[in-house]
Amino acid sequence: MQVKDISATSVNPRSIAEIQKAMKQDLDAFQDYFRSAMQSDVTLLDHVIQYLLRQKGKRLRPLLVMLSAKACGGIDESTHVAAALIELLHTATLVHDDVVDDADRRRGVFSINAVWKNKVAVLLGDFLLSRGLLLAVEHEEYNLLRIVSKAVKRMSEGELLQIEKARKLDIDEATYFKIISDKTASLISACTECGAASAGADPEVVERMRVFGEKLGLAFQIRDDLFDFGVTDVGKPLGIDLKEKKLTLPLIYGLKNTDAASRREILRIVRKSRKSRGDMKRVAEFVRDSGGVEYAKKRMVELADEAAALLSGLEVSDARTGLEEIASYTVSRSR
Ligand code: IPE
Ligand code: IPE
Ligand code: MG
Ligand code: MG
Repeated sequence: MQVKDISATSVNPRSIAEIQKAMKQDLDAFQDYFRSAMQSDVTLLDHVIQYLLRQKGKRLRPLLVMLSAKACGGIDESTHVAAALIELLHTATLVHDDVVDDADRRRGVFSINAVWKNKVAVLLGDFLLSRGLLLAVEHEEYNLLRIVSKAVKRMSEGELLQIEKARKLDIDEATYFKIISDKTASLISACTECGAASAGADPEVVERMRVFGEKLGLAFQIRDDLFDFGVTDVGKPLGIDLKEKKLTLPLIYGLKNTDAASRREILRIVRKSRKSRGDMKRVAEFVRDSGGVEYAKKRMVELADEAAALLSGLEVSDARTGLEEIASYTVSRSR
């Protein structure tokens, strides 16, 4: 899928690697907290954790926490704690997500459930989740704890609403946005909210940064959902949403704007528990031809633009530019 022609803002994004390079010192400090929170004396757990630590996640959430703090006054120890705690929770939810979605690849390698089975993945996820929350308690960061605990609760609700809707296939656009707000934007907005709060920003600024993260998170998940209909390797299984009967924005739009016969044909394929290669191709073709892909891209870019516009209230700084670049990167990223 080609999306290179899209730019969320007037900013030309650096690659995520370049943004990471510019934040190297802070990412190293974050990594120390992250790594030491993962220590365990249980040999099996330690093995799985070493496997996790070798993986290359984008570290988007820690970057968002730290850039938001920097843009709102400055980074301190509590910013690094917030970044580590959110990445721990994010990792926990990915490990659980691959069990829920029955996915065997993550970050270009076998998922935890594929290597060690579901039971290990479920327990590892619980371990990471509790370590994240404990990190906040250990540092007496109760405000951070409050913000992220709410996000985690919403993430579980979003995932369950998604399962409910996959059973009935009766999802409309408003429900789709509710699902992605809960399952994805909640944690991304917790990043920008915690970042600003850790910098001691005024409540109005913290709220503005929360909304920035919410819009960015929605755009981020739409981009993720578009990957599912593409052909490029993004390090996780393609076509899996469809396989799991998950209706995402491109398909929801396509189904709504087509004739009854095509709708019946496509829904019949979605309902099948075993889909052939031809079935998958037919649906991907349908979302393109019905304008679903184009529509989802349009909504995604609008959201990223609205997010970036919220930053104009902040003082001009390298960190603010970094956040604008992340908004731009979110819609143009290729993994
Ligand atoms: C994946 O998040 C889960 C979604 C919300 C789509 P990322 O794409 O940020 O995952 P990593 O950490 O870079 O692997
Ligand atoms: C994102 O869900 C994971 C969470 C927000 C918990 P998806 O299932 O859509 O994400 P990927 O594509 O597997 O990363
Ligand atoms: Mg999922
Ligand atoms: Mg998944």
